[in-house]
Order: sequence, then C-alpha cells, then structure tokens
Amino acid sequence: MSRPPVWMMRQAGRYLPEFRAIRDKYDFFTRCQTPELASEITVQPIRRFGMDAAILFSDILVVPQAMGIEIEMRPDVGPYLPNPIRTTQDVDELQVPDVDSSLGYVMEAIGMTLEKLDGEVPLIGFAGAPWTIMCYVVQGQGSKSFDKAKAFCFTERLHAHRLLQKITDTTIAYLKAKVKAGVDVVQLFDSWGGMLSPEDYNEFSLPYLQQITRALSTDVPVIIFAKGCWYALKDLAATGASALGIDWTCSARNARYLSGGQITLQGNLDPARLLSPPYEIERLVNEMINDFGKDRYIVNLGHGILPGIPLENVSTFIDTVKKYGA
Ligand code: CP3
Repeated sequence: MSRPPVWMMRQAGRYLPEFRAIRDKYDFFTRCQTPELASEITVQPIRRFGMDAAILFSDILVVPQAMGIEIEMRPDVGPYLPNPIRTTQDVDELQVPDVDSSLGYVMEAIGMTLEKLDGEVPLIGFAGAPWTIMCYVVQGQGSKSFDKAKAFCFTERLHAHRLLQKITDTTIAYLKAKVKAGVDVVQLFDSWGGMLSPEDYNEFSLPYLQQITRALSTDVPVIIFAKGCWYALKDLAATGASALGIDWTCSARNARYLSGGQITLQGNLDPARLLSPPYEIERLVNEMINDFGKDRYIVNLGHGILPGIPLENVSTFIDTVKKYGA
C-alpha cells in the first residue's frame, strides 16, 4: 500500500447518530455485555467511513468489574465506583477472576464481530494499562490530579504494587483469551500515564506494561498508547511492542527520535482539530503523513474522538488518508 492504514481511537462512539440510537435504549454496561449490541456498535463506523481496522466496543473498566469492583457509568460524571480500593484489605479481597466465565461475553462479542466483519478489516482488542486502571479503582472516578491514586502509591507502596500486579495478571489472562477468540491486534491504553513523573512512571506503570507486552507479543502485535509519556518512548519501544501511540503534544520528528527510529508509530492529530473546516483537516492530515513518513506509521488521532465532531469532518480525515499518494 502506498499509503498508511487509518483508524480512530474511540471510533465507535457518541459522535455517531446510529450509536446514539442504541445508547438511548440500553445503558452502558448492557451495551458492553450484550454481544449483539457490542458487535453492532463495533462495525458501525466501519460501515459509514471505511476505517482500515475495527476496535471492539467495550471499556477498559470491564476488567476491574470482573475483579469484583462495582462500577457505574453515570451520564454526566463518567465512571463512578461507590466502593473504591483504599486499604490493604481491599487489595486482599480483590479477585484475579477466571476470565472465560467473568468476561465470556467479550469473547462472544468478538466472535460475532468477526462474522460481521467477514475478514474485511482486522479487529483490535484492548485493555487499560494497570496504572490507568488503578487511577479509577483507587480514585473512584475521573480526576484532574488522581491524587488519591497517587497517595496510595506513595504511602502504601508495597500494596500499590500488589494491586498493580493483580490487575496485570487479570489483564494478561483477559488479552490472551481475546487473542484466542480471534482479535488480530491488541492495544494497551495508558491514558493517565502522563500524570506520573518519569521516575514514578518507571516504578508504577512501565514494569507492568513490560509484563503484559512480553506475555502477548509472541502471539499478536501489541500497540501501546501512553498519553503524555514522551519521556518513556525509548523504554516502551524496548518492551517488544509492535507500535507506539503518540499524542499531539509530541511532534513526529521528536517521536521518531525518542522511540529510536525503528518502531511503528501511531497518531497523533489533536482530536479537537476535527472541529476545523474540512479543507484544513485535509491539509493537516497530509502534513502529518509527510512528517511521520508513510512507512512504519498508522494514522490516528492523538487521543479519542470527541462527541461533537461533524460526520463530514470524520469522512475528510479518513478519505484524505485513502487518497494519499494516489
Ligand atoms: O475505541 C472505541 O471506539 C472502542 C470503545 C471504547 C470505549 N472506551 C467506549 C466508551 C474504548 C477503547 C474505551 C477505552 C477507555 N475507557 C479508556 C481509554 C481510552 C481513553 O479515551 O483514554 C478510558 C480512560 C475509559 C474509561 C471511560 N469510559 C471513561 C473516562 C468514560 C466516560 C467519559 C467518556 O469518554 O465518555 C467511559 C465511557 C465510555 N466508554 C463511552 C464509550 C463510547 C461513553 C459513554 C456511553 O457511551 O454511554
């Protein structure tokens, strides 16, 4: 192909009218847990825009949910956990579940999605990085500082590591089951990695990403998206991952330099740039491909697509890539 492949983080989501129609009828976890709905939502953006890959509709928080933590998705709040992990006893009580029974619905959704995709495009499975999952399960909800999660790391260091290890063990089993069910690629989302200093990232996030990548990369390509973690690109490139996601605060040139110049990179348009007029999006996408280079590159946004993006602008983003070099 003389052009790079393209997909969008959070491409199955609220900017799509057909997604909102399903959302109006079923609550969030019902959508995740019903294979017919999850597979339908997964293929919606492919049908409309023709991205080069599908990402399974689900959420990173189904993993802590399977570990026994109650999670609500509140309409204007986002994830809310009535009983967050705050004590060493809470960590003790956390299960490393049998994923085939507790998350079997995800595997069923994968099977159903593969049928619908009929080999047209690859299917991406995903999980949260243990640090990002820890942010939610300790904080109890989204946060600007994740101060409670950090306080747990800095005051109960050993127990923080026990918690991260339990999440890691569950995540490895979960992703292996997803691969067995048929996903072609897995992506790890470390959305809150950039909340940590480089030194703290090396202690509380990187080792667990290394474990997961080591366990998976012999079976399937692994993409690591660690938002705000430009300082970790060298170490992330050395994990055995096949590609690294880049956010929009890091230039293509810097990302190539910091990651060592060999690994495939993915990204990195500012999601808010899809609010620009289409002719501007076309210019930015062409420039972005020129800057990253068309080889060892996957076109994407620098984080998930925002809810209010006009459909026409999404089409322009995808079509510009498809026309590149033609
Ligand atoms: O990429 C895709 O289209 C697949 C689906 C997907 C969802 N969540 C569906 C979803 C993926 C890959 C995720 C990952 C996820 N979930 C992350 C990592 C990626 C990122 O954006 O940083 C995180 C941090 C979460 C946790 C989460 N789930 C939050 C913070 C929220 C609320 C805020 C928000 O962005 O909506 C969710 C809910 C959620 N997950 C929605 C969707 C489509 C919206 C709620 C709804 O549909 O009712």
